[in-house]
Amino acid sequence: MLELKNITKTFGNVTANNDVSMKIEKGTIHAIVGENGAGKSTIMRIAYGFYRADSGEILVDGKHVNIRNPHDAIALGIGMVHQHFMLVDTMTVGENIILGAEGGNPASIDWKKANDSILALSNELRLGVNPKALIEDLSVGAQQRVELLKALYREAKLLILDEPTAVLTPQEVEDFFNILRRMREQGKTIVIITHKLEEVLAISDDVTVMRDGKVVGNVKTAETTKEDLARMIVGRDVLLRVEKTDANPGDAVLSVENLSVTGKHGEALSGVSFKVQGGEIVGIAGIEGNGQTELIEAIAGLIPVESGSIKLYGREISKLSVRKRTELGIGHIPEDRHRRGLLLNSDLEENAILGVHYRAPVSSGVFLNSSVIEKRTREIIENFDIRPPNPQLAAKSLSGGNQQKLIIGREFELNPKLLLVSQPTRGVDIGAIEFIHRKLIALRDAGTAVLLVSAELEEVTALADRLLVIYKGKFVGEVDPKVASNEEIGLMMTGGKKQQGGN
Ligand SMILES: Nc1ncnc2c1ncn2[C@@H]1O[C@H](COP(=O)(O)OP(=O)(O)OP(=O)(O)O)[C@@H](O)[C@H]1O
Ligand SMILES: [Mg+2]
Repeated sequence: MLELKNITKTFGNVTANNDVSMKIEKGTIHAIVGENGAGKSTIMRIAYGFYRADSGEILVDGKHVNIRNPHDAIALGIGMVHQHFMLVDTMTVGENIILGAEGGNPASIDWKKANDSILALSNELRLGVNPKALIEDLSVGAQQRVELLKALYREAKLLILDEPTAVLTPQEVEDFFNILRRMREQGKTIVIITHKLEEVLAISDDVTVMRDGKVVGNVKTAETTKEDLARMIVGRDVLLRVEKTDANPGDAVLSVENLSVTGKHGEALSGVSFKVQGGEIVGIAGIEGNGQTELIEAIAGLIPVESGSIKLYGREISKLSVRKRTELGIGHIPEDRHRRGLLLNSDLEENAILGVHYRAPVSSGVFLNSSVIEKRTREIIENFDIRPPNPQLAAKSLSGGNQQKLIIGREFELNPKLLLVSQPTRGVDIGAIEFIHRKLIALRDAGTAVLLVSAELEEVTALADRLLVIYKGKFVGEVDPKVASNEEIGLMMTGGKKQQGGN
């Protein structure tokens, strides 16, 4: 269906794709894996006409084609869903799908007919999308399905999905994969970029592995294993389990009592109480949207508290500014790195000092201390293996995973007393996951209190010393992550009771 031949693409002095060739067979699901910055998004953006290759050829159904822009790609039946969605929040599903596809004057569109055909398409694949719903009211999973519909509405035969499951809950991933399988049955071809090797094994027919801008392996999924893939991706053996000793908790660092927070859709947290001690990782397990985001943001000072108290070493902080809380030793790795974590147009140095740019040792109050900034940036780049290692690069030109490593590095370098972490390894490659997990445990062992939220049940159970389960804004129980089963936790996450006794 699609053949890429000897594609090379450079950005300045970075070679994103170096003589890349691959074949995507019709009617298959083809996975592309590789480290952050390996060139996965770039090669697929070239196929979609979002970037133009410096050299190389593209063939569709055996014929040479010239893809100058996404418009050309769409005309050839190629669709793409990007790593970050591109939907307009305040418009309806139908408007998002139609506008841009039809062109011309929006007033001349037959909305009834358009919405009907969207609904028909949605029903055919059982996507459950309502064309009249507003995007901002949809869950992330539903928005994803809108992006799929958008491509299908434009009659895509080949769909490129860039890390489509990074933001989905486990249940949503399962539903999503069933949709992809139905699409394959209809003869569609799918390319999926992902860091999750279980997913590669579960969904794909073929796998292409990229490293440093090159293709380093092509295998049939049925003939490989997670360990083999991990080795090909990173170029060495990777520890796929978290290794840690028992926690040695000290004094309570964070005490939250009776905390209630109002969110966008009413009460997000109702009367939550818990403590985090120095030297322990407390994990929060829950399906996204049950109050965990609001909990972290309220402690960080990003959203106001309705009632209740938040104490850091016994001192009430719930009315303090974000800056004041940072000064008291609270670090925050936010889940939405584009909205909260980075200044995308600023370079790595500016991003490395974000939050501490106004005070010693970074600033004298009047002047920025450039040697301190340089040193700190260099340390983060080295310790967190940020690629390319160029302090003057704008944050937006880093690959998704490298942006995440930059935020994590910055917060770790500040040696926080309390670290709030949301989805620390979302979009991060397996080598970096191993690294981030080790760093989190080292921080814990150095006495930091860590509060961790992750949609990956495996990640929270592997890292947490204690696990609180949240459901509809309340804690429904605490479990010992060493003994509780995924089924037990999963049941609590959906509001089912924790089972008492032996069965
Ligand atoms: N628009 C751009 N400007 C400058 N450099 C870029 C741009 N897009 C990508 N790069 C660089 O090209 C290389 C490949 O990036 P790409 O986004 O393709 O990686 P990736 O494999 O998708 O990584 P990730 O898993 O983190 O998403 C990286 O070094 C990246 O910094
Ligand atoms: Mg990418």
